[in-house]
Amino acid sequence: MLLPAIYVVFAVSLPTLAFPELALRDRDHEGVRIVAPPRPTDTGVIPLPEPGHPFIPPRRGDQRGPCPGLNTLANHGYLPRNGIASFEQIVSAVTRGFNMDYDLASGLTAFGMLARGNPYINKLSIGLDTPLIPPLPGKIDGPITRGLAAHGRFEGDVSMTRQDFAIGDNIHFQRELFAQLLDLVAQYGDNSTVTGPRSVVNRRVMEEFKFKRFVDSQAADKKLEYHIGRVLLSYGEAAFTLNFFANGTDGILSTSTMTSFFRDQRFPKGFYRRSAAGNLDKIGEDAGAILSAKPVPPGANAPNGTYIPDTDNFDGCSLYYNLAADNVPAVLLNTTGVLKQNVDFLLNSIHVLFSDCPPAVPRGAAGV
Ligand code: HEM
Ligand SMILES: *[C@@H]1O[C@H](CO)[C@@H](O)[C@H](O)[C@H]1NC(C)=O
Ligand SMILES: *[C@@H]1O[C@H](CO)[C@@H](O)[C@H](O)[C@H]1NC(C)=O
Ligand SMILES: *[C@@H]1O[C@H](CO)[C@@H](O)[C@H](O)[C@H]1NC(C)=O
Ligand SMILES: *[C@@H]1O[C@H](CO)[C@@H](O)[C@H](O)[C@H]1NC(C)=O
Repeated sequence: MLLPAIYVVFAVSLPTLAFPELALRDRDHEGVRIVAPPRPTDTGVIPLPEPGHPFIPPRRGDQRGPCPGLNTLANHGYLPRNGIASFEQIVSAVTRGFNMDYDLASGLTAFGMLARGNPYINKLSIGLDTPLIPPLPGKIDGPITRGLAAHGRFEGDVSMTRQDFAIGDNIHFQRELFAQLLDLVAQYGDNSTVTGPRSVVNRRVMEEFKFKRFVDSQAADKKLEYHIGRVLLSYGEAAFTLNFFANGTDGILSTSTMTSFFRDQRFPKGFYRRSAAGNLDKIGEDAGAILSAKPVPPGANAPNGTYIPDTDNFDGCSLYYNLAADNVPAVLLNTTGVLKQNVDFLLNSIHVLFSDCPPAVPRGAAGV
């Protein structure tokens, strides 16, 4: 009985193999309605990775990008190993694998999908563009769907372990930048009986490192852009490091654990995810504390290299409008059917996080 079944599978898949592009195009031009995945009921510590989620390095053609969290999840099969995922798959993976709060995961993923994915077929590359993700119908946002690693909208300047786009590799782990972080751990970190003297990453380390990264980028990158959305996202990423990469049972973020996530993109041996869901309040509090210790005003470099601070308000709604309005293309509103339903769903998923602000209306340029 098994054999005929296998033959049937072959019979069906042979034409697909013979005409891969054709098969891909037909299927991929059908809209897929996004449906919110179930909220997790279990938000305590669990040991990771779970059985069935071994580390396997990416293969040729698999997409990986600037986010060590998503790369790790893809390397362990919490996300599809090819690095191309739906809204539902990303929300489920980050809530399960790192215990990120469901609403925060949904809002961040929604922004990623609107800014850099294809919200018609519900697919987002965690790396660059790929033939597996077509442009939007009518190419309303340009001839390709670009992916989270593409510079602009989401990926931006003053990252921790990636260089600014204008002056280096903004996608892959940069050992020189990480070495600077480790130096600061040795200088400002905490001691631990488990991992040794000054080997524990703490908030002070992040305060020093984020400020150093800004000072260095400001001096080196004539094209530096550091507006409010990127400033607060980048400090949020520092808070992600402290909150989501720390071992959930003892709360320790050792240099070896941090190295495992950033350099190897792999869960360290004996890792437990955090013991309570990490929500926007917690991330915002830590990001705010890191920034307040050594403040940096949002702004951008003028061509002569002078940093020109922005004059906008510095508050939560301004962050929200910079992301969900400025960095989402306006053409997405000029749509119908499944695409419009998905766009509305995604915009609402971001608004849930900023419910005190009037809803953002996308006003970004297309094709950038
Ligand atoms: C929920 C969906 C997520 C999306 C769409 C996302 C997307 C991104 C993107 C586009 C970047 C690059 C920004 C840049 O540096 O220019 C980034 C950076 C980063 N992400 Fe994620 N991310 C997600 C979840 C996570 C999770 C769960 C973690 C931690 C467990 C995480 C940790 C980080 C860190 C630490 C960085 C900064 C890397 C660096 O500056 O060197 N992210 N993320
Ligand atoms: C950490 O350990 C180092 C070296 O053992 C020691 O000099 C330092 O005083 C310790 N710091 C703290 C805060 O315990
Ligand atoms: C996490 O803490 C537990 C003890 O609660 C320990 O057994 C384990 O080795 C730690 N894992 C890491 C990655 O430090
Ligand atoms: C650099 O350019 C900015 C903006 O055009 C200008 O305000 C500033 O005076 C210039 N600074 C120098 C040193 O030329
Ligand atoms: C909206 O879409 C229609 C049809 O694709 C197009 O003709 C029109 O120019 C678009 N309007 C805007 C404001 O993008």
